[in-house]
Amino acid sequence: MDVTRLKDSWKKVAAYGDEVPLFFYSTLFITHPETRSLFPVSMAGQRDRLVGALGRIVSDVDRVDELVPFLQGLGRDHRKFAVVAEHYPAVGQALLHTLAHFLGPEWKPELAEDWSEAYGLVAKVMTEAADESARTTPPWWDARVISHERRSADVAVITVQPEYELEYRPGQSVAVETRLRPNVWRFYTPANAPRRNGTIEFHVRLVGGGPVSTTLVQGVQPGDSLRLGAPVGDRLLLGGKRDLLMVAGGTGLAPFKAMIEQLRAEQAGGDVRRVSLFVGAPYARDHYDYPALHELAGACPWLRVVPCVSREAPRPGVESGDAVDVALRYGTWPDEDVYVCGSPEMVTGTLRRLAQAGVTEDRVRYEDFDTTSTSGGNP
Ligand SMILES: Cc1cc2nc3c(=O)[nH]c(=O)nc-3n(C[C@H](O)[C@H](O)[C@H](O)COP(=O)(O)OP(=O)(O)OC[C@H]3O[C@@H](n4cnc5c(N)ncnc54)[C@H](O)[C@@H]3O)c2cc1C
Ligand code: HEM
Repeated sequence: MDVTRLKDSWKKVAAYGDEVPLFFYSTLFITHPETRSLFPVSMAGQRDRLVGALGRIVSDVDRVDELVPFLQGLGRDHRKFAVVAEHYPAVGQALLHTLAHFLGPEWKPELAEDWSEAYGLVAKVMTEAADESARTTPPWWDARVISHERRSADVAVITVQPEYELEYRPGQSVAVETRLRPNVWRFYTPANAPRRNGTIEFHVRLVGGGPVSTTLVQGVQPGDSLRLGAPVGDRLLLGGKRDLLMVAGGTGLAPFKAMIEQLRAEQAGGDVRRVSLFVGAPYARDHYDYPALHELAGACPWLRVVPCVSREAPRPGVESGDAVDVALRYGTWPDEDVYVCGSPEMVTGTLRRLAQAGVTEDRVRYEDFDTTSTSGGNP
């Protein structure tokens, strides 16, 4: 299999932009109409979630070993769409047909063979993981909203009780669907370590014009049902023994709160990893979870929480500046593991500043809240 050829050909196809998903879905729905009902009713104006990721992931087949945990998560997570093994050949055919269409004379038998083999490998890992999880877990978890707190104009903290235990690790995310927006799923990150009673807290920020976050923040009420997908993601999992620097933007705080709760349970009495958490927001009023963080810091002597505001002067207990700049004022972080989470812009800016300050890339782990980031791996 010639991986460079795979990647180059995907780059050429991806350059056609929105025409690609349009062609892909037309092909899929005409050749396999039974797949139509798996997708949202209205796909107009939707950012495409499947096709872009599909091409990128399949052409990344040289990293398949590295991608295995991610693909397994993706396969398990696809059960929530009611995807079954029989659907995979249909999607594979539509993908190959799409590539052939856009590559024209460049679509040679050897290239077709490469794509077919690469898709087969990726599909195999996904379907095997889905089959495995089907033995023990439901395709999705029905969950009841037990509290919905509007903490600011655009942030809600939503606590749900899944019907069955949903096992996840702090730092992972789960997809959420509300029946008010059928078949439209978005990822959210539990903000707590698993609890005995199984409840999960989500921090949801409304994104202007976004269908799911708007509904979750403004429309959903206690008593409503949500559906949750299988947990995905390994970028932010805790490992190692070093002290930690965490830089959060907005609801990027959620995974860190869950990870700190995990450390709190693990570190009771024993060796401790010290944690410095810098939480960024434009204004002090946007620190929507301050009381909970304050309480955590009070209970964990190894935890320092520094709220930061980028558009206001400092005030007692709140530093002024972007979270990363404040963090760099506090220290040079020569030995810590560094975790970053927030919007794509926040993450990009933070990584750049860390690199300029000499924080070596191998110690930095990050997640951004852009759906395209679910393509896996943490370079
Ligand atoms: C692994 C992962 C974990 C996530 N965890 C959380 C979480 O804990 N809390 C949370 O609130 N969100 C989280 N998100 C983002 C979330 O999945 C949704 O994308 C977001 O809530 C908007 O959903 P939507 O359907 O309203 O709009 P979408 O259709 O997803 O997006 C609408 C528009 O807004 C843009 N956009 C989407 N998200 C952002 C953003 N964060 N900042 C700026 N522009 C954006 C999109 O590019 C698009 O143009 C996570 C995303 C990923 C991939
Ligand atoms: C190699 C095989 C596949 C890969 C790599 C893949 C990858 C992805 C990715 C990364 C997403 C976006 C993640 C998300 O939003 O949850 C996605 C979404 C989706 N996939 Fe797949 N997928 C594959 C096969 C399939 C198959 C066989 C089906 C069945 C028809 C399918 C149906 C869907 C649906 C319905 C969505 C949601 C689309 C939307 O919200 O608009 N996928 N896929």
